[in-house]
Amino acid sequence: MNPSLEHARALDAADPLAAWHDRFVLPRDAATGRELVYLCGHSLGAQPVLAAEYVEEVMRDWRSLAVEGHFTGRHPWMTYHQRLAPALAELVGAEPLEVVAMNSLTANLHLMLASFYRPAGERRAILLERSAFPSDRHALESQVRHHGLDPALELIELGPRHGEDCLRTEDLVATIERDGARIATVLLPGIQYLTGQVLDLESITAAARRAGCRVGWDLAHAIGNVPVRLHDAGADFAVWCSYKYLNGGPGAVGGAFVHARHAHDSGLPRLAGWWGHDPATRFLMGPDFRPAPGADGWQLSNPPILAMAPLAASLEHFATVGLPALRRKSVELTGYLERLVQQRLAGRVQVITPADPPARGAALSLRLLGLTRDRARAVFEGVRRRGVLPDWREPDVIRAAPAPFYNGYADAWRFVDALQAELGT
Ligand SMILES: Cc1ncc(COP(=O)(O)O)c(C=O)c1O
Repeated sequence: MNPSLEHARALDAADPLAAWHDRFVLPRDAATGRELVYLCGHSLGAQPVLAAEYVEEVMRDWRSLAVEGHFTGRHPWMTYHQRLAPALAELVGAEPLEVVAMNSLTANLHLMLASFYRPAGERRAILLERSAFPSDRHALESQVRHHGLDPALELIELGPRHGEDCLRTEDLVATIERDGARIATVLLPGIQYLTGQVLDLESITAAARRAGCRVGWDLAHAIGNVPVRLHDAGADFAVWCSYKYLNGGPGAVGGAFVHARHAHDSGLPRLAGWWGHDPATRFLMGPDFRPAPGADGWQLSNPPILAMAPLAASLEHFATVGLPALRRKSVELTGYLERLVQQRLAGRVQVITPADPPARGAALSLRLLGLTRDRARAVFEGVRRRGVLPDWREPDVIRAAPAPFYNGYADAWRFVDALQAELGT
């Protein structure tokens, strides 16, 4: 591959999605005013220009319509969350009935576990991965305790094999087959947040269901990044946040998926609130709870419309471009970044993200080899001083995510160039 900046620029010139960059606001260097190379879409996605307009629209409706904004205006607040469902459903391979924008990821995980972690008899355990995102682990452990059980006995944590960084599907499936009778719920990430590995959602879900377990997915790093097919896979539930690849803004409203086979099961135990009540009778204000069909039935409160407005803007962009086109570019761009790293940083950097395109999304995790923790951290700081923003995971990993909406090939080139300069190779 031609490793020159000119070649990277030529690839950008030929990129059919390149113009989308201008629909996002990217951070700039305070001193020079120059746009930074922003590679943190896996952490906090960039702001869509349209987001400010949509927030202002809600502010305007609030000023001019006040309480009537619930029913009038261009996007009445009573049904505002439903406006987001079709695009979310498309991204996670679901029917609109199966998804809802609400709360935040961890809150949604607890709500889902209240329904889908029901330990009974011998079936009391939860299967998770050993390097699960801490919030997932805290949620799972506290759920086990909430049921009066012992996390030391009931959390089954599976990690990569000795000397490996990534999980193996066959190990997860073998564990489910071996311990399935004691596993109540399987909870795994669509993409592992440290390594960027895409897990085989179909095979693992199928194995879990064969073993009679409930199965749910944390899609924090997967939604808006890689194709996901929750409905066809048969997952019971999934949860996600919207501030990463969905560009919904800091602490954006998250989401949940509940499979259609549970859509009308009003007998499922759940933690209820008035917004989850069937809207047809919600305002009769009766004492009985009758859940709305589908994922909507897990809502608790009336939604934060101001917080949903940026997400509405971003999802409109996803609906316009479509995930297949974004993913096509993403596979090319991430592949280009990896080849550049291999060419220019061989022996200094190890890519721990899987090499196989279907097994990874937009982010690469790069381990800095042969450096102390402090020296590795100094390299990362140096890259930032050069106007490039990846992120850092202790003790020696830099994660860089070229997001196909607003990053290009020259961004990948500048990152590798800055890293090489800091490594002094
Ligand atoms: C994989 C994963 N799970 C869970 C969370 C927690 O999300 P929240 O703070 O929105 O509950 C994050 C946050 O970055 C995450 O990356």
